[in-house]
Amino acid sequence: MDPSLVKIPPMKDLTVDNITENVIRINSLCRDERMKYVLERLVTHLHDFARETRLSTTEWMTGLQFLTEVGQICTDVRQEFILLSDILGLSLLVDSIDHPKPRGSTEGTVLGPFHTHEAEELAAGASMSHDPHGQPLLVVCTVKDTAGNPVPDVKVDIWETDSTGHYDVQYPNHEGPDGRCIMRSDADGVFWFRAITPVPYPIPHDGPVGRLLKKLGRHPFRPSHMHFMFEKAGFDHLITALYLRNDPYETSDAVFGVKDSLVVDIGTAGPEVAEKYGVEEGHALLRYEFVLVSDEETRALRARNSKEALDRLGRRVKIVNGLPVPDLD
Ligand code: BEZ
Ligand code: FE
Repeated sequence: MDPSLVKIPPMKDLTVDNITENVIRINSLCRDERMKYVLERLVTHLHDFARETRLSTTEWMTGLQFLTEVGQICTDVRQEFILLSDILGLSLLVDSIDHPKPRGSTEGTVLGPFHTHEAEELAAGASMSHDPHGQPLLVVCTVKDTAGNPVPDVKVDIWETDSTGHYDVQYPNHEGPDGRCIMRSDADGVFWFRAITPVPYPIPHDGPVGRLLKKLGRHPFRPSHMHFMFEKAGFDHLITALYLRNDPYETSDAVFGVKDSLVVDIGTAGPEVAEKYGVEEGHALLRYEFVLVSDEETRALRARNSKEALDRLGRRVKIVNGLPVPDLD
């Protein structure tokens, strides 16, 4: 391409101090306002990181080699980049920013790599786990909106490990789904099923992310939990999980998924519950009320939070397509 035809800002004699400004200037030809802003901030923070740590060439190469290995181990069913994002706390951070929750609504948490589209829709009361060694657990939940009204016909995807801490897809020749199901909330917003009491388990740690955890002196465990995903038109898609209180890893989850509001106690069925749900009195029981946020509430809260966060940083922004870009007017 003839360089005289390309309208780029002139750049030469680049130094430790002016390189950032120059990269930002050349990227400023980008017509997509949001992409330009994201790249501007990315380059600024990356360069500041290198300047502040006095990054050596060897360390830079070690980092690139590490990222190469992260890419090389990825397959259709193994996403090491997301795992890396998880153990750095980025996945939780992005979910919390993009799916803000008003007080009293159910908080989100990390999705993890073990959700599949294989789960079958089961009738209320069915058992989603066929592990004979699991501790049987009755799960009774309701789904409400932020005004306290029951929300019927919500599609709820649920998944958990077996009693050895493995998801069905972790077995090489697994035959059909187990430890997972889809439920629909009824007219009162209720869904209930039989499961097993969750157990702690390690995230996949036989690859570069596992090696990084080891170098950092960290363990790869997640506390006992059960995953839930909620979908209904008009409501913000909710990906969350419930965590058992007093799990040994409750306060050191390898992927930072635990939030206080998601920590639950396992109770026992009293006579009424036992009768209503057809279990023995004293049977282990998990009850929880999920509160979904409408799309409209989420959009408004996301825009308000963006404005406030950027105001605190002294940046003038406007919201375009729900996301901040610099306000240059
Ligand atoms: C999980 O809970 O299934 C999970 C989450 C993040 C990384 C690995 C596993
Ligand atoms: Fe999990």
